[in-house]
Amino acid sequence: MGLKLPDELDFIRAGRLPQKVSLKRTGNKVVMITGATSGVGYATAMHFAKMGAKLVLLARNKEKGASLKKLIESSAAGSCRVYTADLSSLREVATALEQIRSDLSKIDILINNAGAFRTRKKLTADHIDSVYTVNHLASFLITINLVPLLSRSDAPVVLNINSEGHRFSNVCLNDLAWNKRIYTGLRSYGASKSAQLHCMYILKKELEKFGIMLNSMHPGAVRSKIDSKSGWLYKMYYKIVVTPFLKDPRISADAIYYLTTCDDRKGVNGRFYNLTNEEKPAPHAQESAFSEAVYLHTIKLLNGFLDRSVLNPEIKFSKYEASK
Ligand SMILES: NC(=O)c1ccc[n+]([C@@H]2O[C@H](COP(=O)([O-])OP(=O)(O)OC[C@H]3O[C@@H](n4cnc5c(N)ncnc54)[C@H](OP(=O)(O)O)[C@@H]3O)[C@@H](O)[C@H]2O)c1
Repeated sequence: MGLKLPDELDFIRAGRLPQKVSLKRTGNKVVMITGATSGVGYATAMHFAKMGAKLVLLARNKEKGASLKKLIESSAAGSCRVYTADLSSLREVATALEQIRSDLSKIDILINNAGAFRTRKKLTADHIDSVYTVNHLASFLITINLVPLLSRSDAPVVLNINSEGHRFSNVCLNDLAWNKRIYTGLRSYGASKSAQLHCMYILKKELEKFGIMLNSMHPGAVRSKIDSKSGWLYKMYYKIVVTPFLKDPRISADAIYYLTTCDDRKGVNGRFYNLTNEEKPAPHAQESAFSEAVYLHTIKLLNGFLDRSVLNPEIKFSKYEASK
């Protein structure tokens, strides 16, 4: 009889299992990726381009986005559109989404990859932790806004690039500016990723009505620039202690490709994966009554921050239904 690990340590079991791969070509699938200018997102964009996808990238930096488009179109012969928005500004995100919705007729795969980690607290113009805004609020806003485009696909999927880092901390809804508690990079990162998981459990039920599957994954511990906004001490720790163990982000790209394209993934909804293996999130980030609270809080925040109603919790997604 094997030893059953508690949910807190399920990542050890899942991390040791062999990985699955998909060699299927994407054909004409339209694949939108956020944060493709570096690390996991870059490797994923190159992989999808090689497999024939039509890419739509949402990048923070216009120049980086333009040179990536050039590279993809020359080396991988794929097509690529680039939009820009700083995900810490929800207004910028909303403006870019408006443009995307008017330019495109459908999206098949949405990969919410862009992510931030900061050892020093930085608040947005809305007085909220910028890490929470980039990692959770922006990805939520992007997903719900793109429902009309996703619902025109035969098999639409959304994949949130979450993290084992969700285990560091749960979200505290009445202190999103970290005024009442001590801010640390790991706690802020953990809270943002936990909030994203909580919302997945509720949002998946809404998206299911449109045939859209929503899942989350940890992309492995891989080389990237995720520590670039850290203080010098953390940077040194990361370089000396963590970096020697990091893998090539192409392992993340392979796993993301498998989770979003493989036929055996059809109908799979609301799960959390460590690369390609399903695993249980930390107990604090599993589905509970609190998940609904985080979901409603998120919608309320977005409605409050943006000039127009982004999503009415009373009518759920009926406004999108009407626009289909
Ligand atoms: N690397 C790992 O081991 C690891 C482990 C677990 C989870 N993850 C997750 O994987 C995802 C990708 O991270 P990574 O490791 O590849 O890090 P990375 O190399 O720093 O890439 C992050 C990407 O997100 C973009 N981004 C960051 N802040 C942004 C903002 N305010 N607005 C718009 N775009 C923004 C970056 O754009 P710029 O190029 O302009 O900076 C970059 O393209 C994140 O969600 C992260 O939490 C990574």
